[in-house]
Amino acid sequence: MTTRIYFDNAATSFPKPEAVYEAVDNYGRNIGASAGRGAYSEAMESAEIIQRCRQLLAELLNADDPLSMIMTFNCTDGLSLAIKGIITDPDSHVITTCMDHNSVLRPLNALQERLGIDVTFVKADSEGMVDPLDIEKAIKSNTKLIAVVHGSNVCGSLQDVNAIGRIAKKHNIAYLVDAAQTVGHVPIDVKAMNVDMLAFPGHKALLGPLGTGALYIRPGFEGRLSTLKEGGTGSKSELATQPEFMPDRFESGSHNAIGIAGLCKGLEYVLERGIDNIASHDRLLCERFLEITDGVENLTVYGPRNLDCRLGVFSIRIAGFEPQELAAILEKEYGILTRPGLHCAPLAHKTIGTLDVNGTTRLSTGPFISINDIEYAGRTVVAIASLKSL
Ligand SMILES: Cc1ncc(COP(=O)(O)O)c(C=O)c1O
Repeated sequence: MTTRIYFDNAATSFPKPEAVYEAVDNYGRNIGASAGRGAYSEAMESAEIIQRCRQLLAELLNADDPLSMIMTFNCTDGLSLAIKGIITDPDSHVITTCMDHNSVLRPLNALQERLGIDVTFVKADSEGMVDPLDIEKAIKSNTKLIAVVHGSNVCGSLQDVNAIGRIAKKHNIAYLVDAAQTVGHVPIDVKAMNVDMLAFPGHKALLGPLGTGALYIRPGFEGRLSTLKEGGTGSKSELATQPEFMPDRFESGSHNAIGIAGLCKGLEYVLERGIDNIASHDRLLCERFLEITDGVENLTVYGPRNLDCRLGVFSIRIAGFEPQELAAILEKEYGILTRPGLHCAPLAHKTIGTLDVNGTTRLSTGPFISINDIEYAGRTVVAIASLKSL
């Protein structure tokens, strides 16, 4: 088997644009310095790369101020800072959803255990869609945060984050969106979303290296967020306390500048190809996969059928196969790389009815998956399902 098609873009994207590899190589060989930690030209260049990355992020997400982008090491990092930074009072209620990832659920669980906070997990329907009105109904007098995943990493369902943002604004509740699966896949406008904090990885659809990510914090909101870590920033070194200004307030320790150099090139690729273009390519891939796999005996494809409500993240099950077994067959016999199991989102699997059967086998698309690739994957799972019915 020589074909190997990477269908695990929901975990991290692969391959990356050539320019990403070149930028990482160039940084390692020719720049090397840590941003803000030296007065020589390499250290300045490193700082400029990080600043450029913030500018590109602000352009992509329609944010006014590049300094509202806090560089993190992944999406989980940003989510933890957002959740633990805002919830410090035991008398706090948080609303999240059953579609959310452990990177939201576990920090909330930790706060339940440590502080005794109250959390509501708003249910989704069997396609993984949350009704924004159910979020509004869950609001209590002490609700301090609404934290919602934009795109499901289990079944690809897309929540109406703008409608939820209007509810959060109306009730003056802090609003956090986990955009791990959507930044770089679909257009996002932080102003239209009314979001206070948006966490996302650099290593998924933004096509940067592992070890990159960011947290957008709405200008003016940063004062409401406590720091999660304090330390060296290369600024105001005479102070015993953390600088108050952005981004230093939340960025302690050396940056992953080599990764950020790669992320800049990933972002340039996304901006040049165009986010609308990338989103319509993804939509086409979804359409073909759903068409090919529609109504096939023994095969279940989870998530919305409506293309407006989904991403190219497909959880499937074939009767008679364990998710692990199916993933192994797909890899060994067909060169299709997938991820089996619960995908760090147990409540989402409970919602679609796959928690107690070891989850699903997940195929997830990216900008370098072609129509041929998705047709091959679709026909392969159909063929495996029909063998089973012989
Ligand atoms: C919905 C969702 N949230 C958060 C994360 C965590 O992202 P990271 O691995 O960048 O920390 C993931 C990762 O798959 C995810 O799919």
